[in-house]
Amino acid sequence: MNKLVLALFLATGAAALANAEPSAPGSTGIGIKNYPWQAVAGEKSEALERKGNRKRGEVLYALCRSCHQPSAGGHSDGSVPQLAGQHSSVLIKQMADIRAGLRDSPTMYPFAAVLSDPQDLADLAAYLEGLCIPVDHGRYDAQDAVQQVAKGRALYENECRVCHGANGEGSRYRLYPVIAGQHYKYLLQQMTDIRDGKRRNANPEMVRIISKYNDDQLIAISAYQASLVMPGKMCKAKAPARKP
Ligand code: HEC
Ligand code: HEC
Repeated sequence: MNKLVLALFLATGAAALANAEPSAPGSTGIGIKNYPWQAVAGEKSEALERKGNRKRGEVLYALCRSCHQPSAGGHSDGSVPQLAGQHSSVLIKQMADIRAGLRDSPTMYPFAAVLSDPQDLADLAAYLEGLCIPVDHGRYDAQDAVQQVAKGRALYENECRVCHGANGEGSRYRLYPVIAGQHYKYLLQQMTDIRDGKRRNANPEMVRIISKYNDDQLIAISAYQASLVMPGKMCKAKAPARKP
């Protein structure tokens, strides 16, 4: 990108361009140069340029399975995030950012440290992106769920939909995460960490929005996000077990 185009991009802001999805540059992944808000060279941009090999990714995923589960659905109590169906670009960025210490994720550090080859990141990301999103994730189920979800929906439609999409589908090309199918408690934890500065890699425009939310608003918006489903990407619900 030349300097003029870059300046124009910064001036207009990513949110304003949300409807103008750029086309994928060739078949070999996504270049980091399209994302000036987090322009960091090195392994991240290298991994984003590589074409991931799903078969190899599946083999590498053996390292991750014990925590993130064979389905890559994580834990419904929110202690481990769901990764299945997440955009490969987002997975690469998050893994590289965890390696770089930009997120306070002590449980992940030793595993992120193993992933030193950009090709490993690309392969894992390609495998995970291709999985369906499990439907049995953790939701907000307290007594006031209906009210909280409605409250969260209003906030989301106003301030989040522009980037994360009507169904929580995010954007592969802009590195906006899929939110659909994510666990309520994980979402609440991440929202709190982003607001309180513990997740230092977040999009500055989003940080500006979230920093004004109180705890109750974070609960409501997390409850709504956890209720989102992404058509075409969710796993089929398991058939109920037959009585013997
Ligand atoms: C010991 C348990 C454990 C293992 C093993 C593990 N993870 Fe994680 N992972 C976590 C936890 C906990 C988090 C949430 C960290 C946080 O809150 O910042 C996480 C977060 C992530 C995220 C960020 C998700 C998001 O939504 O932003 C990615 C990507 C990820 N892990 C990929 C992997 C991969 C790939 C492997 C295998 C190489 C792996 N993890 C192995 C526990 C684990
Ligand atoms: C300008 C676009 C933009 C807006 C507006 C925005 N986000 Fe985000 N959001 C992002 C990006 C980019 C990331 C990934 C940040 C990173 O690299 O850690 C993200 C990350 C997240 C995550 C973490 C997901 C995960 O898997 O760890 C959550 C939760 C989230 N956003 C919720 C929201 C909510 C709720 C709102 C509205 C209050 C919002 N966002 C507004 C762009 C945006």
